[in-house]
Amino acid sequence: MRHALTRKFVMAATAVAVFAAIVFAVWVNVANGERDRTDVILGLDPDIGNGRAVYNEIARPACAACHSLVDAGAVSDRASDLDVLRPSARVTVESIVAGTIRAHDAQDYADELTDQQIADVAHYIEEVAGR
Ligand code: HEC
Repeated sequence: MRHALTRKFVMAATAVAVFAAIVFAVWVNVANGERDRTDVILGLDPDIGNGRAVYNEIARPACAACHSLVDAGAVSDRASDLDVLRPSARVTVESIVAGTIRAHDAQDYADELTDQQIADVAHYIEEVAGR
């Protein structure tokens, strides 16, 4: 009787441990995938002119709908003014692919924009913000 209970306990504990290991492995993989994508995007050769188009038209909703940016002719007070924030290209890329900004996850930019489009808009902002 005692042994049977112990065996059940060991089996349950093993099942929990295996499950936790699987969840952890999946989580590490997803986190690494996002980090890799950020680096791939930051390694691309950006087209600054196209970045302006992504900002104003290609991204849906347009970045301009929420963020003011003088160069883009964008005026909105729904989120931070990028001329004031002056984010690096890395910060912008991470805000789209690495889940650092919840409002962006809700827009599905990570799926809808290509790596090249994300590179273009991130470098465009880095280049023109605050100037
Ligand atoms: C629906 C509104 C909305 C849209 C559209 C939007 N953003 Fe944002 N964005 C936010 C909010 C909310 C935050 C977080 C608070 C803040 O910085 O204003 C944010 C934060 C940011 C930040 C700062 C990230 C950080 O880590 O501090 C950058 C850069 C940015 N957005 C760029 C963009 C770009 C590029 C696009 C278009 C691809 C875009 N946003 C579209 C709402 C939006």
